Amino acid sequence: MAESMKGLKRTCRCAEVTEEMIGQSVTLMGWVAKCRNKGGIVFVDLRDRTGIVQIVTESEGADTRWGGLKTESAIAVVGTVAKRGGAVNPNLKTGTIEVIPSELRILSTSDTTPFLIQDGIDTREDLRLRYRYLDLRRPELQHRIVFRAHVVQMIRDFLTGEGFLDIETPNLIGSTPEGARDYLVPSRVHPGSFYALPQSPQLLKQLLMCSGFDRYYQVARCFRDEDLRADRQPEFTQVDMELSFVDQDDVIDVNTRLLTYLLEKMPPVMRELSFKEELVQGIESAARDLEANGIGRITWQDAMDLYGSDKPDLRFDMKITDVSDEVKDCGFSVFTGAIEGGGMVRGLNAKGQGDMPRKRIDKLTETAKTYGAKGLAYIALKSDGEIKSSFSKFLTEEELGALIKAMGGEKGDLLLFAADRFRVVCASLGALRLELGEEMGLIDPYAFRFVWVVDFPLLEWSDEENRFMAMHHPFTMPNEEDWKNIDSDPGSVRAEAYDIVLNGCEMGGGSIRIHMDDVQEKMLEVLGFSPERANEQFGFLLTAFKYGVPPHAGLAYGLDRMIMLFSGADSIRDVIAFPKVKDASDLMMGAPSAVDEKQLHELSLIIAEAKDK
Ligand code: AMO
Ligand code: AMP
Repeated sequence: MAESMKGLKRTCRCAEVTEEMIGQSVTLMGWVAKCRNKGGIVFVDLRDRTGIVQIVTESEGADTRWGGLKTESAIAVVGTVAKRGGAVNPNLKTGTIEVIPSELRILSTSDTTPFLIQDGIDTREDLRLRYRYLDLRRPELQHRIVFRAHVVQMIRDFLTGEGFLDIETPNLIGSTPEGARDYLVPSRVHPGSFYALPQSPQLLKQLLMCSGFDRYYQVARCFRDEDLRADRQPEFTQVDMELSFVDQDDVIDVNTRLLTYLLEKMPPVMRELSFKEELVQGIESAARDLEANGIGRITWQDAMDLYGSDKPDLRFDMKITDVSDEVKDCGFSVFTGAIEGGGMVRGLNAKGQGDMPRKRIDKLTETAKTYGAKGLAYIALKSDGEIKSSFSKFLTEEELGALIKAMGGEKGDLLLFAADRFRVVCASLGALRLELGEEMGLIDPYAFRFVWVVDFPLLEWSDEENRFMAMHHPFTMPNEEDWKNIDSDPGSVRAEAYDIVLNGCEMGGGSIRIHMDDVQEKMLEVLGFSPERANEQFGFLLTAFKYGVPPHAGLAYGLDRMIMLFSGADSIRDVIAFPKVKDASDLMMGAPSAVDEKQLHELSLIIAEAKDK
């Protein structure tokens, strides 16, 4: 039977009980984490979000229900704080004290939980997600969610101090072209018409600039119907901002200061929440680095050329080297053919891996192939001086020597080469670099390496659509110098776009926006919008641009990714209270689900046939 807490008032949280309170009476409420009955004396670990405090009953006269408490029941305890009778527990904040109870109320008894409420438990994720409210009782998850709340508050404090206004924008809107599929909401009032949920508040925040709000931010929910990965959810949160009368340096400056501010403010909160000391020290060291040096910039072209990725992981070096010049006249047709076809030959030097077994090299080749490479050529400079290679027979000794030299190859190194188009070479060597970096132990999990990636291309060719697509979005300002080539060589035009990358993850992105209606109209034309369709989809924006629009720019962070990276989590699911699984379903609520006929009827919808999964 559940009891009421009437007449009781909680005096503090569990882990807030201190030695200074010895002799005082406290009223505590929380969950039974553990209950042990030792010869008539009952030891209960009482838990809430601050941690655990031990309750120890007296050997005689205690409420007999103490011994039979079921774990995870919610209870209230009135008692007196005492110095711990047994050994001090150095792992607990309250390890030197205990509470001797005078009253117990069982507020709600718990059934046996489907898994233990402990960190490090080996429980299937689907089970944990079905009972997410129990999963969230685990200290590790509690700490991440609490940390997230603190970081959001820090972001609000900083941005408010910088003159940003928190302005909400609607979630039932028209389609915004961010590149993913929209989630649609049928309208009852307008049969056959749909709202789209925002992929981001992009156009609305631009319009807020037209309205004169000057500096906007919002912790905004975004919805994108795309295939999920460890760092992607169908609904996720952005820290979204927009500024008027600024250039790229202004945006980069305020955001570099925001990140420095967060890194400085986070460590005490992280220690309080029992984050790993190495992680906290990593954050402290990153804070010092940012204070002293700011955040470096790399152009998109350099990032692709050197790291094979537009989100380079700078925690380790291992750069890509172009060897097209060295091999362009050699006898290996794989290399010469790629170069003649407009491609290139580039390589990685895996230092000290020259004795890698053939099987491992084959596995690396498979990795390269999943990124479109047709193969992976190698030269193994074995530690005993032997040179083993999949193609050296096609090269003269001088050519081989020149190639090894260009790669900085020394005895004991493994040189890996990809020959293909730019995109394929970058993607495959970029992936190999990460795989090797991981395997060779080159990545410090507690290091934080930020970089601004700038000068993205404006457009990206889509084989699927057979047209150019906006690399960022259609409202991104082209580089002024390059704009004259928009008709003759659209692919060469750079954009005023930038991403903030941390440890190989795109944490945020933004751009200077187009504020001239002629440029915007031309851009839409290049993207294949007829004037009619452009008008239909963005007529309101194009019209707004006719009434005095300020030059403006902005950026949005993926908040989930930011918290994942700072808290050392592997997936954004671990920093979202109620995440969805890979197939975008919510296992706890059973969403999405069928709805009844009446609802469909009201919305004028008929289900044609369920599409095969
Ligand atoms: P973009 O599309 O680059 O830019 O998104 C900004 C940031 O949001 C995060 N993000 C995601 N996080 C989790 N799950 C997803 N499915 C997901 N998709 C994106 C990433 C990304 O860097 N309106 C522009 C911003 C601007 O130009 O101001 C925009 O949405 O961390
Ligand atoms: P082959 O002549 O097909 O036996 O290939 C010889 C070596 O070149 C093998 O190690 C292949 O994996 C490798 N190779 C094939 N195509 C490519 C390519 N496009 N880029 C790099 N290496 C390749």
